[in-house]
Amino acid sequence: MPLLDLTSDELLTTTRAVRKRLDLTRFVEPAVIEQCVEIALQAPIPPIIKVHFVIVTDPAQREALAALYRKGMDQVVQMRDQALAAAGAEKPTLIRILDSAQYLYDHLHEVPVHVIPCIEGRTDNTSVVEQAGTWGSILPATWNFMLAARSRSLGTVWTGNHLLFEREAADVLGIPYEQVMQVALIPVAYTLGTEFRVAKRPPLTSVLHRDRW
Ligand SMILES: Cc1cc2nc3c(=O)[nH]c(=O)nc-3n(C[C@H](O)[C@H](O)[C@H](O)COP(=O)(O)O)c2cc1C
Repeated sequence: MPLLDLTSDELLTTTRAVRKRLDLTRFVEPAVIEQCVEIALQAPIPPIIKVHFVIVTDPAQREALAALYRKGMDQVVQMRDQALAAAGAEKPTLIRILDSAQYLYDHLHEVPVHVIPCIEGRTDNTSVVEQAGTWGSILPATWNFMLAARSRSLGTVWTGNHLLFEREAADVLGIPYEQVMQVALIPVAYTLGTEFRVAKRPPLTSVLHRDRW
């Protein structure tokens, strides 16, 4: 698969959450996913930390994960309604994301590859330092994976809904839950078209602090 002709800034600013533009019918070659995992491993990962990527392509396994994802999303539906009611100027963006999220809810089992990044060690009841150390060791690798995927015309979207039923997902996949924590579920498929836009984000002045808060 030839890489897309994107500058590094274009890659960093156009790697969007892709749901409706995932090609549910096109086969994704295992070798392409392996390349993305190789690139993921180039992220900052301390030598004592062990990260893992579970690649799920078996239709029955994807169906089982999608069922847990839907169950998780059903649980957060109240939060969604509250967010919508409280939304101001960002309401149209929120409505668009929720519409897109509904599409993924309906079609996740059809997305050809589900990727579950995992890390050895759990953060349940640990200090902030330990939590930061664990999450900080796997999140950059996961994002590297998503950037490498975008370069190869693959779309991804960071999702966390299935984690409400992480133990059940661990049972589906044979992950030793007590020792290994799942971080996300990344659906992966070739995209319908390869052009993606820069996202609208808060103005710099609202996030940038110089020398003090
Ligand atoms: C930790 C985390 C969990 C998320 N979980 C979900 C999810 O379960 N389902 C979903 O559709 N989007 C989920 N999202 C939202 C999308 O990944 C994405 O951030 C959002 O749609 C904005 O997309 P954009 O970056 O293209 O603007 C999650 C995002 C984060 C950071």
